[in-house]
Amino acid sequence: MLVMINSTSETAIVTRQLSRRFSIRLKSEGLAASFRNFFSPVYKTVNAVVDLDMCINRGEIIGFLGPNGAGKTTTLKMLSGLLVPSAGSIEVLGFNPFNRDHEFLKSISLVMGQKQNLWWDLPPQETFEIHRRIYGLSDEQYRTRIDELVDMLEIGDCLETQTRKLSLGQRMRCELAVSLLHQPAILFLDEPTIGLDILMQKKIRTFLLDYHRRFKPTILLTSHYMDDVAALAQRVIVINNGGKIFDGRLRELTDRMRPEKIMTVIINNGEFPCQLREGCRLIHREGQLFRFLVNRELVGELAACLYSTGQIADLTIEDAPLEEIIGQLFTAANASAAAITVSQTNV
Ligand SMILES: Nc1ncnc2c1ncn2[C@@H]1O[C@H](COP(=O)(O)OP(=O)(O)OP(=O)(O)O)[C@@H](O)[C@H]1O
Ligand SMILES: [Mg+2]
Repeated sequence: MLVMINSTSETAIVTRQLSRRFSIRLKSEGLAASFRNFFSPVYKTVNAVVDLDMCINRGEIIGFLGPNGAGKTTTLKMLSGLLVPSAGSIEVLGFNPFNRDHEFLKSISLVMGQKQNLWWDLPPQETFEIHRRIYGLSDEQYRTRIDELVDMLEIGDCLETQTRKLSLGQRMRCELAVSLLHQPAILFLDEPTIGLDILMQKKIRTFLLDYHRRFKPTILLTSHYMDDVAALAQRVIVINNGGKIFDGRLRELTDRMRPEKIMTVIINNGEFPCQLREGCRLIHREGQLFRFLVNRELVGELAACLYSTGQIADLTIEDAPLEEIIGQLFTAANASAAAITVSQTNV
């Protein structure tokens, strides 16, 4: 289906029917087959991104999610002009990324958790200097920005140590500093917290929130850590096998996939005192602890009944973990793709 998306002055990124294919040369086993393959190679096509329509406004933080191999990094590379699309179009701040205009490059930054912008053998300080020249920052701009970033990221101790000797967490924070030095309007973050311990992940999330509050860049973030997504993303775009399967608020996703809440209650005398209506289901019991799946509209009623007994030691109400909800979305998407394939084969 062709969806026409019109960009406005509020729009930061628009993609229309964006697709990217890769052709992979297949390897053959055995000497004879390798010999044949050398003269008549066999190729396989991988559809990494398929007809992707996206519209992202300036200042939004988007969680860009998908399982391994879904096409996230390929999309970010196309949006930052490192890869040319096989079909479709992209506008980033009105630019075609693949033209790599100077003004465009000054407006974006791509941070990849698994790749680095810092020079391995130099201390971060020296990479910062190089970037300052590349982006033509004045002494004053450089000093103000570097002071601010060093302070926010707490990297004062790392600046003069060779990058190769920094810990992963120190290096990642220096990566962010160098990527933000030119104050890009758009920040592509590809798994910025990968491999970091929980405290460091939290530090980076807090930094990103703080940075966004101050400078309002548009952020497109991929992460397999749902805590990152829950803390940062105002909207999520989920892709699977290169195609979009969800675009909306996290709340909408949760409501659609898991209309129930999880209610956990500890009852002093260990006897459950309320009548359970349809829409409330006991899923776990251990001594005085009871856990239920409860339809959203019944949560208030059940909680009120429980409190009225005066026997409640503790009561918590939560959504299902985001990992589970997203996992369920991927499974549903794969199942419907399989169903389509079967019905096509049956035609
Ligand atoms: N340079 C390339 N040559 C051939 N195939 C590629 C290339 N880059 C990506 N692919 C393929 O395209 C698909 C999408 O890859 P991509 O790296 O975009 O996924 P991803 O969503 O970023 O996954 P992950 O969560 O593991 O990082 C995969 O099947 C991958 O093997
Ligand atoms: Mg990736």
